[in-house]
Amino acid sequence: MDDIESILCWLALIVFTACLVKKSTSGIFYNGSESLNGKVIIITGANSGIGFETALELCKRGAKVILACRDEARGLNAMHSIKLAFKCANVEYMPLDLSSYESIRGFVILFKRKHGYLNILINNAGIIFVPHMFSKEGIELNFAVNHLGHFLLTLLLLPMLKCSNTHSRIILISSLTYIFSNIQVGDLNFTSRPYNSLQAYADSKCASLATFLNLAKKFTFDDVSISCVDPGIIFSNIGRDAWFMSSFFYQVLCRPFTWLAFKGTRAGAQTSIYCACSKDVETKKGGFYSECEQRIPWPIVFDENLCDSVWKKSFEMLDLTEVELASISEHIDF
Ligand SMILES: NC(=O)c1ccc[n+]([C@@H]2O[C@H](COP(=O)([O-])OP(=O)(O)OC[C@H]3O[C@@H](n4cnc5c(N)ncnc54)[C@H](OP(=O)(O)O)[C@@H]3O)[C@@H](O)[C@H]2O)c1
Repeated sequence: MDDIESILCWLALIVFTACLVKKSTSGIFYNGSESLNGKVIIITGANSGIGFETALELCKRGAKVILACRDEARGLNAMHSIKLAFKCANVEYMPLDLSSYESIRGFVILFKRKHGYLNILINNAGIIFVPHMFSKEGIELNFAVNHLGHFLLTLLLLPMLKCSNTHSRIILISSLTYIFSNIQVGDLNFTSRPYNSLQAYADSKCASLATFLNLAKKFTFDDVSISCVDPGIIFSNIGRDAWFMSSFFYQVLCRPFTWLAFKGTRAGAQTSIYCACSKDVETKKGGFYSECEQRIPWPIVFDENLCDSVWKKSFEMLDLTEVELASISEHIDF
């Protein structure tokens, strides 16, 4: 009997400690009560993780939310889950594969046909720990999806953001890993150096952060802001391509600890939600945010040589048509 009591005591202590640790790692929750009635919002990669939680919350606030996802079944499943959780949700799935320029252009054409304007674009989708692979255009996959795909999508949607007649927002989900970047603009495909998936991820996140902060400075208008978000370390599906994620060691020994130590996806969505809702964001052209507050990014993204070369190289790699370039140059001071 004593043995059972002491086991129960230990179990209670472990559960209590786990609850305390989980609470202390859950981060800040945004409690602003803004309504988003009538706002049209696109969220890339909204079928899981941070994107899904962001979509759910923005639907609850009355927005029309477009889930821009690469997999139809996963996109529709997310749409149904949101409708199940919130009956009045105004939510729609649209196909978008950020690793293909053709898919991005197709998405923009379809979106323009269906919707007259866009209030908020949330560039959330991302990949990490992928093998050395290339996009349809032959670009290293991290760089293609995490940076170039979102950059092309944003440039093509700029006229729609300008049509909204209110302040519009672009939100980029970044990652603190950019501080480990050692980006080599002359060898983005890792042809003359060994491929390292974490390095490629950090480089892509650094390129996108530098480019989007630069883009905000180059706007020829004040009514669109760009917020770059570091969500923190989140217990999501993002690392599923890593070999160690499916190993017995990780699943049994590490996973419970990462669940405890990392924020949940709902907590990870809070700064994105803050940037989509808070009036404070409207007064800034561009900014870097974490834990629902503006922060100063590491100096690497202010390195003028780096920003300039990434900006030029990105444009070169986008292979924009004359018509696209003409439309974009109405909004950007190159
Ligand atoms: N988790 C973290 O600790 C962490 C930390 C810092 C930053 N972030 C960033 O947060 C963002 C969201 O990640 P998460 O943690 O929520 O991971 P997640 O649950 O894996 O979500 C990533 C989303 O991106 C989508 N995606 C991947 N490749 C795509 C493509 N080619 N075209 C369109 N969509 C694509 C995925 O779609 P499928 O489901 O079809 O694969 C998924 O919906 C990412 O940008 C990530 O870099 C995450």
